[in-house]
Amino acid sequence: MLAFTRLSLAAAVLAPALSTHAAKILVQVGPGGQTIFSPSNVTASVGDVVSFQFLSKNHSVTQSSFASPCEPLAGGVDSGFQPVAVDATNLPEFSIAINNASKPLFFFSAQTALVDECNLGMVFSINQDANSATKSFTDFQANAKADVPAAKATAVVSSSTVAAAPAAVSSGAKILVQVGAGNGLTFSPSNISANTGDTVSFQFLNGNHSVTESSFASPCEPLAGGIDSGLQFVAANSTEIPEFSFTITNGLKQFFFFSKQTVPVNECNKGMVFSINQDPNSAVKSFAAFQANAKADIPASTASAVGTKATAVPAKASSGSEILVQVGADDSLTFSPSNISAKAGDTVTFQFLSKNHSVTQTTFAEPCSSPLFGGIDSGFQPIAPNATAIPQFSFTLNNANTPLFFFSKQGAECTKGMVFSINQDPNSVKSFAAFQANAEADIRPAAKGNKRGRRVHARDFSKVVGK
Ligand SMILES: *[C@@H]1O[C@H](CO)[C@@H](O)[C@H](O)[C@H]1NC(C)=O
Ligand SMILES: *[C@@H]1O[C@H](CO)[C@@H](O)[C@H](O)[C@H]1NC(C)=O
Ligand SMILES: *[C@@H]1O[C@H](CO)[C@@H](O)[C@H](O)[C@H]1NC(C)=O
Ligand SMILES: *[C@@H]1O[C@H](CO)[C@@H](O)[C@H](O)[C@H]1NC(C)=O
Ligand SMILES: *[C@@H]1O[C@H](CO)[C@@H](O)[C@H](O)[C@H]1NC(C)=O
Ligand SMILES: *[C@@H]1O[C@H](CO)[C@@H](O)[C@H](O)[C@H]1NC(C)=O
Ligand SMILES: *[C@@H]1O[C@H](CO)[C@@H](O)[C@H](O)[C@H]1NC(C)=O
Ligand SMILES: *[C@@H]1O[C@H](CO)[C@@H](O)[C@H](O)[C@H]1NC(C)=O
Ligand SMILES: *[C@@H]1O[C@H](CO)[C@@H](O)[C@H](O)[C@H]1NC(C)=O
Repeated sequence: MLAFTRLSLAAAVLAPALSTHAAKILVQVGPGGQTIFSPSNVTASVGDVVSFQFLSKNHSVTQSSFASPCEPLAGGVDSGFQPVAVDATNLPEFSIAINNASKPLFFFSAQTALVDECNLGMVFSINQDANSATKSFTDFQANAKADVPAAKATAVVSSSTVAAAPAAVSSGAKILVQVGAGNGLTFSPSNISANTGDTVSFQFLNGNHSVTESSFASPCEPLAGGIDSGLQFVAANSTEIPEFSFTITNGLKQFFFFSKQTVPVNECNKGMVFSINQDPNSAVKSFAAFQANAKADIPASTASAVGTKATAVPAKASSGSEILVQVGADDSLTFSPSNISAKAGDTVTFQFLSKNHSVTQTTFAEPCSSPLFGGIDSGFQPIAPNATAIPQFSFTLNNANTPLFFFSKQGAECTKGMVFSINQDPNSVKSFAAFQANAEADIRPAAKGNKRGRRVHARDFSKVVGK
């Protein structure tokens, strides 16, 4: 029953929004640093979207009621506080779609830190009725200034006229993202491409989720100064769908987001993440790798821990890119990805996420036999279950023409297929698949003729970060 209600609600909102009749009505929050909504009240039809642009300070758009202007309405819409830095380049925008134009809606800014903004009259309404004793904006605002408690609300007839708000002028495209569609822990779509000027709008359809900016390296931690919708609870009986938007001012940049809800489950760890302008071919910018990081729950302090270790990397003189490989993601016996292609000058970085693995160079023919003499070896990297720092091991490739093979030298992990390669050729006899098959078959040296004595070409790589 609930699901049905929600689905029809979503459909009801989407359909008109896509029709040509639906208008977008722009409301400025705090223009010129003032403690006001501008306009203070609007008239909206079914399907119209009212979009609040936060222009200064730290206000909210919080639904209340005519009777209690300065009290959040249970189950009402709430943008949460939207601080706007003086030099902000991305202005937060919060929107709601109107489903019932006969019903007046009342809002206030819940900020009370320096001054109680509601008591100053920073209130707003949609579809007020100037001639109604219980629905006029003037009376609502008077109640707010008088800080009228619920029980004492009185209505005074007023005769304000209501002018329709100007429709917004928007040059870029509007890209819709559904949050929690079908009660899932998803953003749909999970990743988008957006150009400068485009507006990305998140519709909260269910549950109690957020759209919170993070970073590729720490998917489940809010980015300092980043965009945050706040948690958006959608009550079973809610008649409005909260929508949160912002406009992209730099279409060349990648943006990463998560839902910061952790009750009853950590939604980020469940993969409830989203990205804008991911690069599927980049190890440090792809949505797939970002989501894998989120599921692996790379902890907050990791970013700095990794960063600390990474400072050992000589200021990336090389113009090569960094390729990230996760070791033991999700407690699994895997390198992820299992094999990569790298160019000379690229840095390959291994992040140890669980257990006690190694990245140890070996040979194609005898993967699990023993470390390659003179080869790369991270040594064992034990990770406590409660670890807050993640060790990272890197090297820079000098020669992209020779395939390199690696295993985890821990116990029997190699024979369980925990191997990795760089620059394999899937069509040659030395393919990663064949190498992994050798590992799983536990090919061992014959009594004689093993290659342990063979020294790897030292110039195939230079080790950058050791243990
Ligand atoms: C309602 O908003 C309109 C602008 O849309 C404004 O002209 C009018 O004064 C407002 N009413 C009140 C009572 O403030
Ligand atoms: C939703 O239901 C709750 C209680 O079930 C009630 O307190 C609240 O006023 C309702 N909200 C709306 C918008 O109808
Ligand atoms: C719209 O709101 C009015 C006033 O609250 C209510 O009487 C009516 O039933 C609502 N219509 C729908 C379709 O929910
Ligand atoms: C915005 O206001 C809220 C409520 O007063 C406060 O908790 C929060 O720290 C403020 N944010 C900033 C960045 O000032
Ligand atoms: C939404 O989630 C937050 C964080 O878990 C929680 O504090 C808040 O009470 C929830 N809201 C509702 C209405 O359940
Ligand atoms: C990125 O989103 C597109 C749809 O926009 C989807 O087809 C693709 O699978 C997504 N990529 C990943 C890695 O989920
Ligand atoms: C990691 O594994 C190695 C080899 O099995 C072992 O010697 C070492 O004690 C382990 N470290 C921890 C902390 O378990
Ligand atoms: C991690 O757990 C171990 C064993 O329970 C404990 O000794 C150690 O203090 C914990 N470390 C942290 C950082 O919590
Ligand atoms: C090699 O890695 C790619 C991803 O980088 C993967 O799609 C492919 O399946 C891997 N090859 C084998 C044989 O596992």
